[in-house]
Amino acid sequence: MCGIFGYVGSKEAPKILIEGLKALEYRGYDSAGIYVPLNNQQQSTQQQNRCIKAVGQVKNLEAKIPADFKGNIGLAHTRWATHGVPSEVNSHPHSDCSGRVWLAHNGIVENYSELKQELIAKGHTFKSATDTEVVAHLIEENLKTIADFSSALKATLNTITGTYGLVIIDANDPTKLYIARKGSPIVLGIGEGENFVASDPSAIVPHTKKVIYLNDGEWAILQAGSYQLFDLAGGELKREPQIIEWSVEETKKGGFDHFMLKEIMEGGKVIKNTLAGRLDENTLSIKLPELLGVEEKLKNIKRIIITSCGTALYAGWVGEYLLEEYAKIPVECEYASEFRYRSPIVEPGTLVMSITQSGETADTLAALREAKRQGAVIVSIVNTVGSTIARESDAVIYNQIGPEIGVASTKAFMSQVALLTAFTVRLAELRGVTTTEADKKVVQEILDLPAKIESILDSREAIKDVATKYAKYNDFLFMGRKYTFPIAFEGALKLKEISYVHAEGYGAGEMKHGPIAMIDENFPTVALCPADSVYEKMISNVQEIKARSGRVLAIATVGDQTVSKMADETIFVPEVMEMLLPIICVVPLQLFAYYIGTGKGYDVDKPRNLAKSVTVE
Ligand code: F6R
Repeated sequence: MCGIFGYVGSKEAPKILIEGLKALEYRGYDSAGIYVPLNNQQQSTQQQNRCIKAVGQVKNLEAKIPADFKGNIGLAHTRWATHGVPSEVNSHPHSDCSGRVWLAHNGIVENYSELKQELIAKGHTFKSATDTEVVAHLIEENLKTIADFSSALKATLNTITGTYGLVIIDANDPTKLYIARKGSPIVLGIGEGENFVASDPSAIVPHTKKVIYLNDGEWAILQAGSYQLFDLAGGELKREPQIIEWSVEETKKGGFDHFMLKEIMEGGKVIKNTLAGRLDENTLSIKLPELLGVEEKLKNIKRIIITSCGTALYAGWVGEYLLEEYAKIPVECEYASEFRYRSPIVEPGTLVMSITQSGETADTLAALREAKRQGAVIVSIVNTVGSTIARESDAVIYNQIGPEIGVASTKAFMSQVALLTAFTVRLAELRGVTTTEADKKVVQEILDLPAKIESILDSREAIKDVATKYAKYNDFLFMGRKYTFPIAFEGALKLKEISYVHAEGYGAGEMKHGPIAMIDENFPTVALCPADSVYEKMISNVQEIKARSGRVLAIATVGDQTVSKMADETIFVPEVMEMLLPIICVVPLQLFAYYIGTGKGYDVDKPRNLAKSVTVE
């Protein structure tokens, strides 16, 4: 949440900072700001002129930057409001009273209220309603007794509680970026004679592929030609940069109107990339070399708990069905935000799986830490290499699909479910509860998936027509059973988050226990009724809706005339084995949501009130 970008080098900082913010805009976009000091020291009045802010998207900020606004170091921020409404005064960067300390912050300073009162009593004047501003004034206060800026920063970090990713400039020495991390992701980009810092590596990739992730409790100083890392006691740390694999192309729209459409259209490729090196086409077997270090433990586990949030949680629900049915092991899948607070009991022999695109989701991370504290083995499915959850897990299965930029998760979901399927087959093998023949059949069907996904994507114009017909409704119900039950929730989530339309996911069997009361001609149902073991039950549920004048949009297996005669509209999907239905059935629902959202004229890549990486609770 919120995007920070910082630069120090010999190039013009404003342009680089604005490009960096654009790459990070999916993290928050209610206001943005930039601070670029001149290369020599200035008076505080001049410093105020070196900070420019704007409400709304980064392009509004860009439009306000004058041509003569130059400098070789700077920091910038795009905000997702927590404390204080979106406004220029609340947007970052924030400064102290004197205009010496300038900073941008991600996270929440939890003790800001007490600190603010103390600082006001000492004569500090605050401009904004944010928690962040307190950090600038606290550094200023510490500088009254501590001459050295680094030591004043260290004292400040030891006083504030909560979470932070911070980038700071001392206007008295505008050659250094000070960076600190606790709980909010921050990554350094190491270039040639120039260095970068960002809250997400996707903004750094266009400049350098050498990155260093800061851990909690670490801080750093970046200069044009050097970097130094420290712990909170002040001890210097040695760490070499790691190379990030993403390419610049992966961070661009590639001719599509939106990242969301580009990412949906990557579906077939996503399955191939996810399983590259993991699926042997000759022996039709699955290898997950990343599990080698925990395989002995996996053989003996008694129970699995999956914890995640949002779309990743729905992928986890699919995992629950897969693992129980195929690998014959008890599984519970839980909202990470509830798991951490409900005094969970993690018995010996429990495997906890965190599923997360960003690898930084605060609730998922907290659930992982609680499980780890209780001794669980942690295997995570993560897209962002080097992210906090990846680093804190015992084993990580990476998605291998490049960055997901659209705020609404699409390709990550497909990849997460594909990995859960591969993990299920491997675990079943390790536990000796499957046969080679059964595994081979699953692998062969997985190999056929990309072509089947492509066939749905090829019919996107027809799905667009259906979406256009349904765009007038304000309420939707999505229903499914067994493997399509999580897909009903995911379809509803996609629709509500990008088109702001009320949509509910439901298990079809639950309809008559309440929700069917809502059904009338103005409340359509999206019914997931592909050919599977609960098909007959779904048909009955569709009939119940029709009997109450409800409109039905069905997702059915190609050639199914029973469903298409009953439903008002039908989108057909290719036939696949039941356990792979989630991957196939989600595709039309992603496109349906996309076309309804864009049809209403919304920016589906940046839905209101949302942010990509949810690093606050
Ligand atoms: C919905 C969506 C969110 C995320 C959730 C978890 O489209 O993107 O629901 O799935 O915030 O995020 P990660 O996967 O980064 O942990």
